Amino acid sequence: MASNAFQPIQGMSDLDSPDVYLWQYVEKTAREVFERYNFGEVRTPILEKSKVFLKSLGDTTDIVQKEMYSFEDRGGRNLTIRPEGTAGTIRYLGGLGEDGLNARVYYMGPMFRCERPQAGRKRQFHQIGVEATGPANALLDVEVIAMQEHLLSELGLPGARIVLNSRGTAADRKPVADGLRAALRPFEAELCEECQRRIDQNVLRVIDCKNENCQKIVDQLPEMREFMCAESRAYLDEVIARLTDLGVNVQYDRKLVRGLDYYCHTVWEIQHDALGAQNALAGGGRYEVTIGNKNIPGVGFALGVERLITAMEAAGIKAEQFVPKAGVWLVSLGEAALNTNLKLIQELRKAGIKCGMELETKSMKAQMRKANRAGAHYCVILGDDELAKGMAVLKNMEEGAQSDVALTDLVNELKK
Ligand code: HAM
Repeated sequence: MASNAFQPIQGMSDLDSPDVYLWQYVEKTAREVFERYNFGEVRTPILEKSKVFLKSLGDTTDIVQKEMYSFEDRGGRNLTIRPEGTAGTIRYLGGLGEDGLNARVYYMGPMFRCERPQAGRKRQFHQIGVEATGPANALLDVEVIAMQEHLLSELGLPGARIVLNSRGTAADRKPVADGLRAALRPFEAELCEECQRRIDQNVLRVIDCKNENCQKIVDQLPEMREFMCAESRAYLDEVIARLTDLGVNVQYDRKLVRGLDYYCHTVWEIQHDALGAQNALAGGGRYEVTIGNKNIPGVGFALGVERLITAMEAAGIKAEQFVPKAGVWLVSLGEAALNTNLKLIQELRKAGIKCGMELETKSMKAQMRKANRAGAHYCVILGDDELAKGMAVLKNMEEGAQSDVALTDLVNELKK
């Protein structure tokens, strides 16, 4: 059998030490920051009925058209492994009645999109996201964006750029699409094949097409906001002005559209140069998510954890600095010492001390080698002589100094 037969699926990865410690630091910091803003954690299922995503994300979006892992289960139900966190979270909040319409929640976990794997684009990736439900209110958008910037600064990440635009209200959708279509028609034959289709199906996607020629055409179009009502333009201006007031730097980007249909009003992305082509560290926006017959408004964002970690590592923040210090290693010289150490190690661990030991009798040299490999700060060395006296030898591994300590004092001594 080929040796890679049991490798993870392409675009999905195992995560292990030491990298996992940087992830834990990111997750812990996110929890601390979000709690300060009164956001509480929610954990929704990874598997949802497909209809949770189909309508809310939009029929013509890339995710729905070609990226969802969907299947029929043994009971003939159409299910989808979540490609993003907003739809499931809003499905949950929608079920709470009034409470869900004015809620602040955050989530973290894996998302799945069947995309072509490449640098920065995975099939299983992880998001840390937040959703704040409530009717359109520029102040809430500002608070959520400011919280996101706060998190990045708390993580010590320099160089993140917030770019922002508006998708206007639901009523603006038609005038914006009609306006863009009319402006694009004279160039239709020059657009890439996909954009020629997009003009009629989802004209906004022409705006963020990566094709160079399409971009040259887009540069000549009027800005989307010119087709929006005065209220939408004022909303965008207010969000930018209030963020600037708070000292949060944002750049208006007339070409930012975001690839999900539930957005209205504010949309934004956080970009970072360390990420290369897939430069979006995070995406967010104000939305109206349709679940069943309910249309739930809110605002939120999701950070891509893999991309965030890449940017942090490029900024010199390394996983090694978060690896917990290996505390104490117990060395047993003989069977009797091994038995005593088995009780001692339990006592030390219950006292909150990280420790390890060999679970069989081995030479002193082999055990000390293991202690060094584990990076132990102290070794407790126990042999027949020490046992007879009710003592142990405590060795400071960094300084090399050693002293005799009564077994009954060991826990207190090590806790110091
Ligand atoms: P999104 O822009 O599709 O938005 O994803 C958010 C972030 O997830 C991206 O900026 C990126 O960092 C990361 N990401 C997305 N796809 C991949 C991938 N294939 N591989 C690695 N990272 C990826 C959403 O998902 C919205 N639900 C965000 C939101 C929440 N809007 C309002 N509330």
